[in-house]
Amino acid sequence: MIDQTLTMIPGPTPVHPRILEALARPTVSHLAPEFVEAFRAAIADFRWLCQSREGQPFIVAGGGTLAMEIGLVNVVEPGERILVVSQGYFGDRYAELAGAFGIEADVVRSEWGRAVAPEELAVRLAAGSYAAVTITHVDTSTGTAAPAAAYCELLRGRRELVILDGVCATGGIDEPCDTWGVDVLVTAPQKAIGAPPGLALCLFSPRAMARRRERRSVPAYYADVLRWLPIMEDPGRYYSTPCVNEVFAFGQALRMVRAEGMSTRVARHSGLAGAVRAGLEALGVPLFTAPDCRADTLSVALLPPGVEDAPFRKAMAARGIVVAGGLGPISGKAFRLGHMGNIGPAEVAATLIALEGSLLSLGAAVTPGAAVAGAASHLAALQR
Ligand SMILES: Cc1ncc(COP(=O)(O)O)c(C=O)c1O
Repeated sequence: MIDQTLTMIPGPTPVHPRILEALARPTVSHLAPEFVEAFRAAIADFRWLCQSREGQPFIVAGGGTLAMEIGLVNVVEPGERILVVSQGYFGDRYAELAGAFGIEADVVRSEWGRAVAPEELAVRLAAGSYAAVTITHVDTSTGTAAPAAAYCELLRGRRELVILDGVCATGGIDEPCDTWGVDVLVTAPQKAIGAPPGLALCLFSPRAMARRRERRSVPAYYADVLRWLPIMEDPGRYYSTPCVNEVFAFGQALRMVRAEGMSTRVARHSGLAGAVRAGLEALGVPLFTAPDCRADTLSVALLPPGVEDAPFRKAMAARGIVVAGGLGPISGKAFRLGHMGNIGPAEVAATLIALEGSLLSLGAAVTPGAAVAGAASHLAALQR
């Protein structure tokens, strides 16, 4: 597309024109029948996306961090203790968030770029009891995918509620909430779901709803799920004005996920991730994340020797591609590349070509043509 920059950061991700059309619909009353119907469908489709039969969706204006807050303050009391499984910046955020509400947090932390082994979690669980355990499905700072199914297996039948942060996973990586026994899924639309930012998305299991109902009050007003429940059951009612256009857009994105089918979508994300990794490898650009825990939604790679962060991202931008810098300990040393949501083989190929050109322009020792050649078999398998 002429003059169009390709935003290949790990969120927000590029939004498909059909979703943008939905966003641009005339803003109608939140009580207008067409909006109420769209909201009802989005709630049902979000429950479908979470692979849940009885989970209670909550779709409210906000972002992923608000979803994290809703997911915690409704089920854990100030003074109670949680266990945070952290694989980076966003895992640590859960401990910080808990602290803001007087909730104690123990943290089991991996080295950056690695995942916490299920055995380590088992040791922590054997040593103490917690009100909840938070898990970041994919930590966007490190590109680490947690062994979430294995963690959930360890937590099965225990009193700890499982709170899963799916912000960088939902819609791109399999996340069967009922099968895994997830009590609260917290997520957002702007990454693998491929809708614009602006919503906090949660799914509460019956057990999590019961935990909320046991409590007389929570230290929240907007974030209290019991205030939102009547609206989720009947979107024709009012609590706080929903972001009408964003719900239209989110609903359209969900229809596209349903049309693609979750298994096809998961396979597409896996194929794109394979293409990116093969392309990087062919260029001699090392991935930061350990091979056994690389996420299919983004890749974190180390800048080659002699290549500085700012000129590299400038060279990419000059070629029409925006990538993100490293966070925390890898700030200035790595870049983060999103490949999720509405992205396809064409966008990945364009990104690899820009990557190769940028590195060559900065004097890195890369072989012209190597990136796309390295990724070719993965990309070809994805073309319809
Ligand atoms: C894994 C994860 N959790 C939570 C968040 C916070 O979401 P938001 O920026 O929408 O508040 C992010 C944002 O990138 C994230 O990647």
